Amino acid sequence: MKVVVCKDYDEMSQKAFEVMKEVVTSKPGVVLGLATGSSPVGLYKCMIKDHEENGTSYKDVVTYNLDEYVGIDRSNPQSYYTFMKENLFDHIDIDPNNTHVPYGSTKEDCEGYEKELEKVSIDLQLLGIGRNGHIGFNEPGTPFDEMTHIVDLTQSTIEANARFFDNDMNKVPKQAITMGIGTIMKSKKVLMVVSGPEKAEAVKATVEGPVTTDMPASVLQNHPDVTLVVDEAAASLLS
Ligand code: F6R
Repeated sequence: MKVVVCKDYDEMSQKAFEVMKEVVTSKPGVVLGLATGSSPVGLYKCMIKDHEENGTSYKDVVTYNLDEYVGIDRSNPQSYYTFMKENLFDHIDIDPNNTHVPYGSTKEDCEGYEKELEKVSIDLQLLGIGRNGHIGFNEPGTPFDEMTHIVDLTQSTIEANARFFDNDMNKVPKQAITMGIGTIMKSKKVLMVVSGPEKAEAVKATVEGPVTTDMPASVLQNHPDVTLVVDEAAASLLS
């Protein structure tokens, strides 16, 4: 695992953007796995700025998002579908038909998304990490071979996400559809962005801890091509 320590969130976003741009411009028809949340927003801003200023094109790029809440409509402002439109897709020249955000609540919905993913091969999977080490919505205890599935969100994730739902935990959906760890591990390259002191323990366990389902992101130690871009606060417990 390559670990890049940056001074702050902006530098983290810029460094992650450099990795992203290299992949995006490497060949036509690149397939990206994308994430939502606070961590990648700065990276998405860099991609938008670069598209506007340097004309980097996303016309042929295909994207698959990691996850989506169950039980809220795509038009809901808090849906990950809306998040992706607002934070990236509406500001670059990507073909909306080439963007995919999982949706649904049934086994068939999960199998359908996984079938689509089987037809392509993700060149770069972007990830954030939860305080408890979750990747996508794969919470501690998720088997490493799980593919796209429906999950019950843990209390800590519901609490962490309440900030997007008027700080009201009751409004936070209780389930999500997510790529599994098995799905994520199939991607050719992984780029993880992490910032803030509240992630420091998860970062340490991911990089230095044992590979265990108790810390889902630790599985990345088994992936051949991972770049972890962290700010100093998130890296503070690394030895
Ligand atoms: C988002 C996702 C989650 C987040 C994680 C960190 O698509 O899959 O695993 O990456 O919860 O969220 P932030 O970046 O908001 O701290």
